[in-house]
Amino acid sequence: MIIAIDGPSGVGKSSIAKAISKKLNIYHLDTGAMYRTLAYKLKKDNIEFSKELLKDFDFQIKDNKFYLDNEDITDKIRENDISILASNISKIKEVREFMVELQRKISNNKDVVLDGRDIATVVFPNADIKLYIDASAEIRAKRRFLELNETISFDKILEDIKNRDYQDMTREIAPLVKADDAILVDTSNMSLEEVIKKIIDIIEGEQK
Ligand code: DC
Repeated sequence: MIIAIDGPSGVGKSSIAKAISKKLNIYHLDTGAMYRTLAYKLKKDNIEFSKELLKDFDFQIKDNKFYLDNEDITDKIRENDISILASNISKIKEVREFMVELQRKISNNKDVVLDGRDIATVVFPNADIKLYIDASAEIRAKRRFLELNETISFDKILEDIKNRDYQDMTREIAPLVKADDAILVDTSNMSLEEVIKKIIDIIEGEQK
C-alpha cells in the first residue's frame, strides 16, 4: 500500500505521516528531509550544487533518523536556512530525478506513507491513497513560531513560508499542486490529533 501526502511547508505533513506510519505499522519516508540533507551537505562543505555531487551523496535513513556521512543530522536539517536552501535546490532537474528514483527504490516492496510536494503527482501517481494537506500561510507561520527555539520573528517566519510556497508552487518541474484525485484536508482549524484521526478515518474508509 502506498499513501501519498502532499502539501505546503509547515503544514504538519511529516508529523501526520509519522503518526500514520505508527498507527498502521508501515514505513514512513519524509521526502523533504532528503532534499534538506542535500542542502545541508552544500552548506556544510560550502559548495554549490554539481551533478558529480550526487554520485557520492552518502545519506542513510535509520529509524526515521537521517545520517549524512554517518553523522546524525536529523535536527540540523530543520533549521530555517536549510529550509530555504532545500527549496532552492529542489528546482534543479538532476536533483529531482535523483530524489524521485531513490524514493521509488526505497519504497519498493513496502507498505509506505510518503510525505512531500510531488508524491501523488510524480513519484507515485497510482498511490492507493492521496491526501493534500493545507492550511493558510498565517496559521502555518503561527504554529512554527510557537515551536521554534530560534530567535526569529513571526513576520520573518511568515515571509519565509510565503516565499517557499511561491517557489515550490511555481517551479518548472514538479511544482506543488493538488493531484486531481487527492483528498483535500484543510487543517486550519484543527489540532494535530484531530487531523490524524480524520486521516485514519479516510484511510480506513478507502480500504473498505
Ligand atoms: O517538506 P519540507 O519542508 O521538509 O521540504 C523542504 C523542501 O524540499 C521544500 O521546500 C521543497 C522540497 N521538496 C520537494 O521539492 N519535493 C518533495 N517531495 C519534498 C520536498
